Amino acid sequence: MNKPLVIAIDGPAGAGKSTVAQKVAERLGLAYVDSGATYRAVALKVLEAGVPPEDEQTVSRLIGEIEIQITTDGVQPHILLDGRDVTDKIRTPEVTLAAAKVSRLPEVRTKLVELQRGYAKGRGVVMEGRDIGTVVFPDAPLKIFLKADPEERARRRLGQDIKEGRDATLEQTAYEIGRRDQLDAERKLSPLVPAEDATRIDSTLLTADQVVERILELARERKLAEE
Ligand code: DC
Repeated sequence: MNKPLVIAIDGPAGAGKSTVAQKVAERLGLAYVDSGATYRAVALKVLEAGVPPEDEQTVSRLIGEIEIQITTDGVQPHILLDGRDVTDKIRTPEVTLAAAKVSRLPEVRTKLVELQRGYAKGRGVVMEGRDIGTVVFPDAPLKIFLKADPEERARRRLGQDIKEGRDATLEQTAYEIGRRDQLDAERKLSPLVPAEDATRIDSTLLTADQVVERILELARERKLAEE
């Protein structure tokens, strides 16, 4: 039996991964998985328990029995933490920062990588994150590393925040993106680096649709898609 197709899309915050990954999944009839949402769910659980996200021992204990489900309800993916819908709750600035911190802990990464692999069992997926092509699915037949200039990423993230009703300024957003880039790139485990065999796409001057077309072209070239 053929293994289900996995398309890995990695890159820094604000490079456009979510929009692009969702569109590629839709066009190819694959499931879409946002692996960052799983780190955010852990962060929310940790914050709600009043535990500092750096407290490795307590965090490890806390996530022993965590249950994280990703559902797709039409085009809008929902995330359930221990059975509760936390789709909106995991997008606050507090959770964003705590997610960057908990994602440095080895126990958290081991647990979530296993979970993420499970989401692709028996079905094709487009999965976005930081280490999908390097760690989660090193054998994925198509890996994209999507990047964009920091200023452009801050502008896009701000646009998304405003659209979703969150208060933010460009200055604050640029600061947060810079801080997260640093945390993601400097961590010892699974730092944000492109897989050797990833195709790098710089989206600074491209629209999301142009990036999607480029990815679909690569998929067709590799005989992974017919469209
Ligand atoms: O993509 P995002 O902003 O929702 O990710 C939230 C945090 O989780 C971010 O700080 C990086 C981390 N993350 C990770 O370490 N590995 C992944 N595959 C996805 C996200």
